[in-house]
Amino acid sequence: MNSALPFSQACENNKQAILNVLQKHLSDGDTVLEIAGGTGQHAEHFAEHFPGLHWQSSDIPSNVDSLNLRIAAAQLPNLPLAIPLDANQAQWDCAMTTVIYSANSLHIMSADSVENFFAGVDIQLQEQGLLLVYGPFRYGGEFTTESNAQFDLWLKGRDARSGVRDFEWIEKLAESVGLELLEDNAMPANNQLLVWRKTK
Ligand SMILES: C[S@@+](CC[C@H](N)C(=O)[O-])C[C@H]1O[C@@H](n2cnc3c(N)ncnc32)[C@H](O)[C@@H]1O
Repeated sequence: MNSALPFSQACENNKQAILNVLQKHLSDGDTVLEIAGGTGQHAEHFAEHFPGLHWQSSDIPSNVDSLNLRIAAAQLPNLPLAIPLDANQAQWDCAMTTVIYSANSLHIMSADSVENFFAGVDIQLQEQGLLLVYGPFRYGGEFTTESNAQFDLWLKGRDARSGVRDFEWIEKLAESVGLELLEDNAMPANNQLLVWRKTK
């Protein structure tokens, strides 16, 4: 392991379980846009395991140089350098894609940013394309576990605009842009991996 590269233990812990779900949905020729790439560990792991697809990672401008340390070091032909992309941008400066993937981002963004995320997905995702979102959610106003409730308090203490999102609200936003929920996968560490298809 190169200790000069950005690193998240959570990514190490969850990347294989996420890959297992991605393997059911992604195929050669797909073009994936990753929003909120973070350390780049997911991008590197998934691009390595899917040599036949193109993985375009991104993050907000202030994080993209750090993300690119790992992406540049990976030297994978299907993993170009990440692009600066804030979900709040009126226009996401990239091509239409067949898949949009984002992990652990909706509870970090403000509620307005989450709405802007779905507005961007609406524009960027091709018809029949897939949206995959990983992270913790509340159901029927309840946290799935006490540890997620504690996590929500911790998030809000850091930034009052962030917090674990209600599945029903996210699903409403998704529906409003023509996404049909295909799967809600229960994942390790009290997370979910939601999969939608764009039907319009
Ligand atoms: C907890 S990290 C998750 C990173 C990585 N996806 C993971 O699973 O480890 C949250 C990420 O959301 C990004 N982020 C925050 N606000 C954003 C926004 N408005 N648009 C895009 N990304 C954003 C941060 O820069 C950070 O990389």
